[in-house]
Amino acid sequence: MSLQKDISLLCFLKMFVLLLNNKEAVVQVTLFEEGPEMSKVHQRLSDQLQIPYANITLGSVEAAYYLCAYEFSILGLVTPWCKLFDRAEAQVMDYAGDLGLYWKRGYGHEVNYMSSCVLFHNLFNLQPFNKDYSFPVSEVVNVQVGHAETLIPLMTLLGLFKGKISLDANNFAENLHRPFNCSKNVPFAANLMAALWSCPDGFRLQFRVNENPVALPGLSYSPLYEEVKKLYADLLQGCNEEEYQLGLQHTDW
Ligand SMILES: *[C@@H]1O[C@H](CO)[C@@H](O)[C@H](O)[C@H]1NC(C)=O
Ligand SMILES: *[C@@H]1O[C@H](CO)[C@@H](O)[C@H](O)[C@H]1NC(C)=O
Repeated sequence: MSLQKDISLLCFLKMFVLLLNNKEAVVQVTLFEEGPEMSKVHQRLSDQLQIPYANITLGSVEAAYYLCAYEFSILGLVTPWCKLFDRAEAQVMDYAGDLGLYWKRGYGHEVNYMSSCVLFHNLFNLQPFNKDYSFPVSEVVNVQVGHAETLIPLMTLLGLFKGKISLDANNFAENLHRPFNCSKNVPFAANLMAALWSCPDGFRLQFRVNENPVALPGLSYSPLYEEVKKLYADLLQGCNEEEYQLGLQHTDW
């Protein structure tokens, strides 16, 4: 596979960001940022730092939170930034992050995840996925490297981490324990693996996210490959790669 083709598989997303400039994401995030939960976090930060509320921008609230989060996760340090947020407040900040990704990369908009249908088809077209399971295979392992922003739409297209309700500005409480949990599902170095197993009762396909097996919607952790093909029957013949790749040649990524 040529470098150009690889790039078109993994970098299709930039084009969508450019074209859509996803208004709904901005709306939901803005509504949440101006809503009661976030205002409380903002107010307490202002009280603790003894700086007037109006003088602390939302960007600064976020910066303080991410300084704490990054230094904690990368260096294992609990820095003074972390003292500015209690657990409940950190959950609010975390929701703001997931909310944005939900609308920009996830279930919020069909175009977000349909954009990864190119990658989806690439996966299911790998030998031996699409051949009559003939062995020996010429390509035992196929590795592709990309951004979390590429992985979220693909996981979404596969139906992974979909909660019962959508993530909206006004349902933080209902989403306190949500499957769409980006710090867990797509941390700094996330990975999605699809493994085809030859079992006595037929071929079985198992998806793993960050090495942990995940169940596809309505199926077990390692369903028969035939069941997987049934689950994605529409996508397997349906999504129009060209349409979703449109305009790619005009980006410089
Ligand atoms: C808050 O902002 C106002 C208006 O920009 C400014 O005059 C004031 O000095 C600021 N106060 C603090 C504590 O930064
Ligand atoms: C996300 O996953 C992490 C790690 O398992 C967990 O600590 C956290 O509570 C989860 N967040 C939500 C909103 O479910």
